[in-house]
Amino acid sequence: MADPKSLGESLRHQGVSRRGFLKYCAATASMMALPPSMVPAIASALEKAQRPSVIWLSFQECTGCTESLTRSHAPTVESLIFDYISLDYHHTLQAAAGEAAELAREQAMHDNQGKYLLVVDGSIPLAHPEFSTIAGISNLEMLRETVAGAAAVVAVEDIVKDKPIINVPGCPPVPVVISGVLAHYLTFGALPELDEHKRPLAFYGQSIHDRCYRRPFYDKGLFAETFDDAGAKAGWCLYRLGCKGPMTYNACATVKWNQGTSWPVESGHPCLGCSEPNLWDAGGFDQALSIPTSDLARTATYAAAAGVAVGTVSGMLGRSAKQRATAGREAVNIDDLEKSS
Ligand code: SF4
Ligand code: F3S
Repeated sequence: MADPKSLGESLRHQGVSRRGFLKYCAATASMMALPPSMVPAIASALEKAQRPSVIWLSFQECTGCTESLTRSHAPTVESLIFDYISLDYHHTLQAAAGEAAELAREQAMHDNQGKYLLVVDGSIPLAHPEFSTIAGISNLEMLRETVAGAAAVVAVEDIVKDKPIINVPGCPPVPVVISGVLAHYLTFGALPELDEHKRPLAFYGQSIHDRCYRRPFYDKGLFAETFDDAGAKAGWCLYRLGCKGPMTYNACATVKWNQGTSWPVESGHPCLGCSEPNLWDAGGFDQALSIPTSDLARTATYAAAAGVAVGTVSGMLGRSAKQRATAGREAVNIDDLEKSS
């Protein structure tokens, strides 16, 4: 059932200051590569936004995606945003079980026809749908039933063809990426600009390699050969240890994990390419260690772009790739925003 309170009222009720809220809006604009001038519009839209219904189906998965979103040491505005959405059905988080749980899904579908967001994680055994069932319903049937009334779908592009779809890949996905996508949907009522794999360009537009702090070592040809040699200890590039950073597009090299604490490469582990298609079939250490020609060309484009690593993001709000990639780096004056709002 939809909460009548707006997001702004809800955040105030939970003790979030105007300044804290504006900082979140500024960070969201920066993450989405939008200019600071968009911050008041984002704040205004988010403040008035009504609580959207979200149905989350977890099929054959390890619960890592949900863990990724719920693990935090302290409540953040992002977590309040997640508290704010009406998570009407979630296999792992809901208190209801059995028939009551299925009733909640049916109720949410009925009450929010054509308006709810459907989030799907995990795989579905397409050749043998009967191998994985919930409440006696196969995963495939439950997906088809639930997708019919959804406004938009997060993931499952191989199965769902007739709805707006966004993929937020990763194993698990970076939490702040999901929060950014949700904030964009709440703000603009539409999904953000996507790449050819339907990933949000603002987060997946640049490779791990192009944002990696070990990149200067790669460029100088300084590679760790084993996990404990002098090069590894000196922080040299992990390419020869299987790093898939040059072929992988994700935001973790900049936003990191665990509230900005670290990320795999910073912890001494090569990137496994967890946000790329067919990770489990074609990824990992067995994949040939060569950079595809297309990625070399793309890397050359980044390097050539005015001294900054610029992604292949194109067209967001009608601006050029360079404008968008550099927009988030412009200064946002929270004091001015606070005074004018
Ligand atoms: Fe970083 Fe991996 Fe690229 Fe080396 S190959 S610079 S460790 S992303
Ligand atoms: Fe995944 Fe590579 Fe980041 S393995 S978590 S995309 S560093």
